[in-house]
Amino acid sequence: SNPPEALPAPKSFEPGQFPQVRMRRNRRTDWLRALVAENKLDASDLIWPVFVMEGDKVREPVPSMPGVDRLSIPALIDAVGHAGELGVPAVALFPVVPPALKSAAAEEAWNPDNLVNRAIRALKAQVPDVGVICDVALDPYTSHGHDGLIEDGEILNDVTLDVLVRQALAQAEAGVDVVAPSDMMDGRVGRIRQALDARGHDKVAILSYAAKYASAFYGPFRDAVGSKANLGAGDKRTYQMDPANGDEALRECALDVAEGADMLMVKPGMPYLDLVWRVKQAFSLPTFVYQVSGEYAMLMAAIERGWLDRDRVLVESLMGFKRAGADAVLTYTAIEVAERLKKG
Ligand code: PBG
Repeated sequence: SNPPEALPAPKSFEPGQFPQVRMRRNRRTDWLRALVAENKLDASDLIWPVFVMEGDKVREPVPSMPGVDRLSIPALIDAVGHAGELGVPAVALFPVVPPALKSAAAEEAWNPDNLVNRAIRALKAQVPDVGVICDVALDPYTSHGHDGLIEDGEILNDVTLDVLVRQALAQAEAGVDVVAPSDMMDGRVGRIRQALDARGHDKVAILSYAAKYASAFYGPFRDAVGSKANLGAGDKRTYQMDPANGDEALRECALDVAEGADMLMVKPGMPYLDLVWRVKQAFSLPTFVYQVSGEYAMLMAAIERGWLDRDRVLVESLMGFKRAGADAVLTYTAIEVAERLKKG
């Protein structure tokens, strides 16, 4: 039988430059994909947030964050040692403050021997090479669960600054490497910088939670530190940002940079990737992003049901932050991901 007729050569109706340009050529093999990869994820991109609790019971699970435990100080020392061995450069500490120590004026926040300050001292004595970052905000310490002091239902800005300064100084005296104001009061970065410098703590850096939104994604965190019941039906919308706003985040960052912030943070992460990109482009400062508790819970819930593939989805979600321009990511998955990267 006759061979079929040759197909006519493709005409110039092909869009673009096909077939001269074939994007799939660079995706053909593992070695080629590795060669052309634009971003890499490394353990040194990760900051591990840890919940610290009183007592010598080793650990206690957080139900809404499967795989995350609250750690006592002895357990913290071991866990942070392990983090350091994996190449995770820093940890961020969040205290679970016993209810009896919470008050309207948050006095426990600047107690030199409070839980977080004892944890800082222990870490700096026993695991000195891992960086220690601490939140500066009053919510773990207030009986009403807000990040600032209240009068007649209003969160007071300038009065709160005095307390934040005392809190930051107590952490600096304990040996913290980085203070991270996460309260969203106006003017706090400048006041904290001045106070630190006046007391000789000029080496303590400030990581400003500059673009921090009033987000529904913080729910599991508030379970973990036990501030949910304190806050009750309250919300933080008079100080944390409106999720509708992007330009406003750049103004927040500009102010914090002018006041002396060394590093900036965007929080939450995945729904705010546009801000990671914009902040990095606008300021060229080290820009961190917080993959917050609700993002973690969301991933874990789907993984537990078998709807998402754990091995791939955790790394992919972090790679998105790198691609958007983040220099580092705060993530509850830091240890698991660092272990996975080490195995290759
Ligand atoms: C406290 C603080 C919060 C988080 C970090 N620091 C909660 C809040 O602002 O209510 C949330 C982190 C997370 O959800 O993982 N200011």
